[in-house]
Amino acid sequence: MIHSQLILFACLIFATSTVFTADSLAVMSIDLGTEFTKIAVVKPGIPMEIVLNKESRRKTPVIVAIKGKDREFGEAAISRSTKMPAQSYMYLRELVGKSLNNPIIEQYLKRFPYYKLNIDGHSSQLVFEHDSETNYTVEELLSMILKKAREYATDFAEQSVDSAVVTVPPYFTQSERRSIKRACELANIKVLQLMNDNTAVALNYGIYRRKDFNATGSTYLFYDMGAQSTTCTIATFNVVKIKEHGYVEEVPQLTIKTVAFDRDLGGLEFQIRLRDYFAKKFHEKHPKIDLYKHPKALTKLFREAERAKHVLSANVEYTAQVEGLIDDIDFKHQTTREEFENLCTDLFERIKRPVQEVLTTSGIKLSEIQQVLLFGGATRIPRVQNELTKVLGGVELGKSLNTDEAAAMGAVFQATALTKGYRVKKFLVKDFNQYPINVKFERQNDDSDQRILDKTLFNRNNTFPHRKVMTFNKHTDDFSFDVYYGNLTYLSLIDRRALGQTDLSRIDVTGVRTAYDKYKDTMESKGIKAHFELDDSSLLVLTRIEFVFERKDNDTDKNKAITKDEQSTLSKIGSKISSFFKSKTGDDGTKKGDEDEQNEETKTTSDEPSTKPLDNNETTNTTNDTSTTTTASTPTTPKQMNAREPLKFKIDLLDYPDPSEEAQTESKKKLSDLDAHDRELLALATAKNNLETFIYDARDKLEHDQRYKKATTSHERTKINEKLAEVDAWLWEDGVNADVKALKSKLDELKTLTKSLKIRVREVELRPKKLQELKDTLNMTEHFFRATRSVLFKTDTDEKPFTDAELKYLEKTIKDTYTWLDQVLAEFAKLSPTDTPKYLSTDIDDKTNALKRETNYLLNKAQRFVPKPKTTTPKVPVNNQNKADDDKSSTTSTSEPEETTTVTPPSTEEQHNDL
Ligand SMILES: *[C@@H]1O[C@H](CO)[C@@H](O)[C@H](O)[C@H]1NC(C)=O
Ligand SMILES: *[C@@H]1O[C@H](CO)[C@@H](O)[C@H](O)[C@H]1NC(C)=O
Ligand SMILES: *[C@@H]1O[C@H](CO)[C@@H](O)[C@H](O)[C@H]1NC(C)=O
Ligand SMILES: *[C@@H]1O[C@H](CO)[C@@H](O)[C@H](O)[C@H]1NC(C)=O
Ligand SMILES: *[C@@H]1O[C@H](CO)[C@@H](O)[C@H](O)[C@H]1NC(C)=O
Ligand SMILES: *[C@@H]1O[C@H](CO)[C@@H](O)[C@H](O)[C@H]1NC(C)=O
Ligand SMILES: *[C@@H]1O[C@H](CO)[C@@H](O)[C@H](O)[C@H]1NC(C)=O
Repeated sequence: MIHSQLILFACLIFATSTVFTADSLAVMSIDLGTEFTKIAVVKPGIPMEIVLNKESRRKTPVIVAIKGKDREFGEAAISRSTKMPAQSYMYLRELVGKSLNNPIIEQYLKRFPYYKLNIDGHSSQLVFEHDSETNYTVEELLSMILKKAREYATDFAEQSVDSAVVTVPPYFTQSERRSIKRACELANIKVLQLMNDNTAVALNYGIYRRKDFNATGSTYLFYDMGAQSTTCTIATFNVVKIKEHGYVEEVPQLTIKTVAFDRDLGGLEFQIRLRDYFAKKFHEKHPKIDLYKHPKALTKLFREAERAKHVLSANVEYTAQVEGLIDDIDFKHQTTREEFENLCTDLFERIKRPVQEVLTTSGIKLSEIQQVLLFGGATRIPRVQNELTKVLGGVELGKSLNTDEAAAMGAVFQATALTKGYRVKKFLVKDFNQYPINVKFERQNDDSDQRILDKTLFNRNNTFPHRKVMTFNKHTDDFSFDVYYGNLTYLSLIDRRALGQTDLSRIDVTGVRTAYDKYKDTMESKGIKAHFELDDSSLLVLTRIEFVFERKDNDTDKNKAITKDEQSTLSKIGSKISSFFKSKTGDDGTKKGDEDEQNEETKTTSDEPSTKPLDNNETTNTTNDTSTTTTASTPTTPKQMNAREPLKFKIDLLDYPDPSEEAQTESKKKLSDLDAHDRELLALATAKNNLETFIYDARDKLEHDQRYKKATTSHERTKINEKLAEVDAWLWEDGVNADVKALKSKLDELKTLTKSLKIRVREVELRPKKLQELKDTLNMTEHFFRATRSVLFKTDTDEKPFTDAELKYLEKTIKDTYTWLDQVLAEFAKLSPTDTPKYLSTDIDDKTNALKRETNYLLNKAQRFVPKPKTTTPKVPVNNQNKADDDKSSTTSTSEPEETTTVTPPSTEEQHNDL
């Protein structure tokens, strides 16, 4: 066939490879520590990887130093912090979502007395008073650091990264979590999930060992002592069956069994103890000086304490010294590990408590623990390990985890699992709710003595994500209820105080009476249902409140038919069935998402215990057994029988006020001004750098590059060199304060001066290649032209893929190009290396492309060309022996060319033709 032939031809000539760049999404994790952030990214084709920062480090100190509008981050900010401590903000994570009187804030100010923390009268947010004109909220500062993290991730992934799983400590409260989420929002980061860092670490441990887990499960203890705090986690891994799309699948599952913590036991406190000890030693010699009144000196001492802490982890001695600590007075003190340990006796004693607590709470014995795994920088302190060995009764401590990066890696795995477009092997996660959440309200329409009722909504050991419905059965008028942290007696005193306000929110429900009156005559109240969710960030969400009514019994024929006895029997069966299915889904209902959550949806009925078997009532159905499974969890009786009247409600936060919308807008503006300033600085630096680079580069080439030497006369070289020297001198004088425009215009001058030289050098390089390409294309096009012409000529049919005129045009193009090529070659022969050529390689490209375009056009036509099918009755018998002559009308173009051109046609006709 003509077109198959042509297509083959096309492949020979223009075998270009097309690269498809699908713009797929990269996602990241930010392990936000108090001291360091670690970032990981995943992008299509690239597995989970730790992001390197500007200094090519795998972790970045959490600090931002602000001077005027200039900001420094990471290591650079640490260096700056000794010069301007009060404007270098660090250890920020623990400050979020709190008021001034929180013990953690008090502690922070005691440690770093030079910060001016306050509650901004205007926005009610905790702010650092930066200077007379500016306050920065903790969230604003944190968002700067988060944005920087995003920038590193974007640079590393070489594409924009917008979404992240961000880690938080498991003990973070509702207000702390909300605050982190807002900081992310200010940084333009879409939070996929706030993931507890201990869970992320455990997940990271699990994903590399999925083969090791079985249905029985294995139990691990993770002990993490970081810069700020200590958490101890018992986690189990087991394999569960889940059903999806009708298939049963076995997947590993991580369950966080229990967590205990000490919010203020970590590396920072050890370091502070050393700093204060050094200060004491200094004061002993210089009693008139109070280092605590000298921020710079205090910061220097703090950094020295950090070094001492590290060295004393590996060595037994260290000589601490700071030159010119204050007023040219040096500090020097020989210290030992023993001295250090004596400073921290009480801290070491606190090490064991979280371990004991997780064991007691979970009821898991030490002997059941497969392995103990340490992570967090502070677990490197030898004495910490000793204490742990003691409390763990000799169980071996596993230090195999990459302690620094485990959380970032676990979180980025989770980010991938939460992002469409990635296929990851499932790993289910059930996390542990840290604080019990209760609901408290006043009874209505009830005469009992107890006016105030208090119910647990989410138990301490509830897993999340999790949904619950709380039913208020007796309320018929507007009412309020309070949500608060329940029984916290298990917490240590300091941790309990750190929670700050234990009241979370007050909810006012309105429109109750109207809704009640609307239905009360025709229907029966099923109570007011408040739908809560503890989402996968462990944030409590009140999704809706509705008044539910059901048509009265005697309204439905069906129910009439069922006698009382039958009903109770049926409800028993219903109960059995539903509990059967419930427990089954409890085993496998582990996959995330609506279905599971609805299975877990529990009715926390409040007013009356007697309404508990609501489930059974609703699932009493005569015939359909399976329907009970679905209705057991979702109280949806046939629609026409129920009425759901949404109720309005208002939430007042009692723990810590969220910033108003205006405040949030103001924050955004403040931040974007700083960003704009950064961009200006960057533009200036880039312009300066471009100019410097150009000068350096041009000089280098004129001096050392033979190609440039050949292409210039000595006069020209002198001229260019003089100009380069002139601009270089300018750069060091007026140029120092020049703006972007001035810098760019200097660069343009230089570029104009050297433009024709650049062209000459480039052309010498490109010309042979381009000429060869044109010649090859000419050759091929000509070949194509001849082949086509011969095929079409032989075919001699009306049905040609293209017209004679088109072929003629191709022929002319070929001819003209030959003529042009001859002319150009003659020009080039006369050309001296210092002349600027008349014809450029781009002109040659144009000719090559014109030929290609023309050929491609014809090829495309040939490919699309479909010969008309043979019409109904053949006018003339086809392919007869006798048909040797060129009978125009009788042959079909499909058969004929095949005979003439294919290589091995075994048909008899051809033999005849040949004969
Ligand atoms: C910063 O906050 C302090 C404390 O509330 C307040 O007195 C001051 O006016 C604020 N400064 C600015 C510039 O908003
Ligand atoms: C399951 O794994 C645990 C820990 O590896 C092991 O002790 C137990 O024997 C395994 N159970 C089965 C049934 O294989
Ligand atoms: C854990 O849950 C069980 C029921 O699932 C409950 O009886 C127990 O009190 C809970 N423990 C705690 C500490 O809340
Ligand atoms: C709180 O929980 C503790 C056990 O953790 C228990 O002993 C105590 O009775 C509880 N208090 C209340 C008021 O429920
Ligand atoms: C049955 O419904 C009617 C209204 O439809 C009502 O008047 C009557 O009291 C109801 N009977 C019972 C027993 O609820
Ligand atoms: C069914 O619900 C009605 C009211 O809604 C209640 O009176 C009755 O006791 C319930 N029956 C069972 C078996 O729970
Ligand atoms: C209850 O049973 C009836 C048949 O008696 C059926 O039409 C209806 O769909 C069932 N209801 C549910 C919720 O399955």
